[in-house]
Amino acid sequence: MSLLRVDASIQGPRSASSELAELVLGEFTAAAPDETVLTRHLGEEPLPADAWALAVAGSATPEADRTAGQTEALGLAATLAGELRDADAVVLAFPLYNFGVSQHVKIWIDLVIAGAGPGVRLLEGKPVVLVTTRGGAYGPGTPREGWDHSTDYLRRILVDVWGADLTLIEREFTLVGVNPALDEFTELAGQLKAAAVAAATQTGKALATR
Ligand SMILES: Cc1cc2nc3c(=O)[nH]c(=O)nc-3n(C[C@H](O)[C@H](O)[C@H](O)COP(=O)(O)O)c2cc1C
Repeated sequence: MSLLRVDASIQGPRSASSELAELVLGEFTAAAPDETVLTRHLGEEPLPADAWALAVAGSATPEADRTAGQTEALGLAATLAGELRDADAVVLAFPLYNFGVSQHVKIWIDLVIAGAGPGVRLLEGKPVVLVTTRGGAYGPGTPREGWDHSTDYLRRILVDVWGADLTLIEREFTLVGVNPALDEFTELAGQLKAAAVAAATQTGKALATR
């Protein structure tokens, strides 16, 4: 079994999403130490911002007429799609930034679709763990209910477009303790963190037995 882990935090060692992904991976590798783990960090090593447009243009251009940039971008798109296709399980750590997915994540998705072809169910039936973290809270009745434009979009791509068997691990209120305006939510934030840690631990164990 091979596992692909993709991170996207821009916050380096302070990343709450990477911390949870690390827990999933820790449990997975403890139970399945011989399995291959491939990693990619979209926040630390971003994909080139012009690659998607070049790949799309390249795919509409006869091979002999493609520019070097188009050929390179199509190669990158094929590589990214291949990483997902070849993985038996996938762990994604994608935070909420500015009420949506980061451009690092968006271009990864765009390039995978360019590399695989539209409508190709790259992850059909595969276990995929999506870890997502949010500084605030977006549940029913909160002032910003409906402002999280990341989670449903990712579910749409992973499940409805690529066919993944998705497990979602969410942690809200990660900015409690950082932003004093959120101090009144300290107890709740602690409970949400504990629940996310428990879910990550349990999910990592379960992944190793699939
Ligand atoms: C540039 C930036 C934009 C952010 N935008 C939002 C936002 O729109 N909504 C929110 O709830 N939190 C926002 N946050 C907080 C992050 O969601 C929070 O720090 C979360 O833990 C990020 O995951 P990470 O720790 O893995 O980077 C933002 C953080 C940064 C650095």
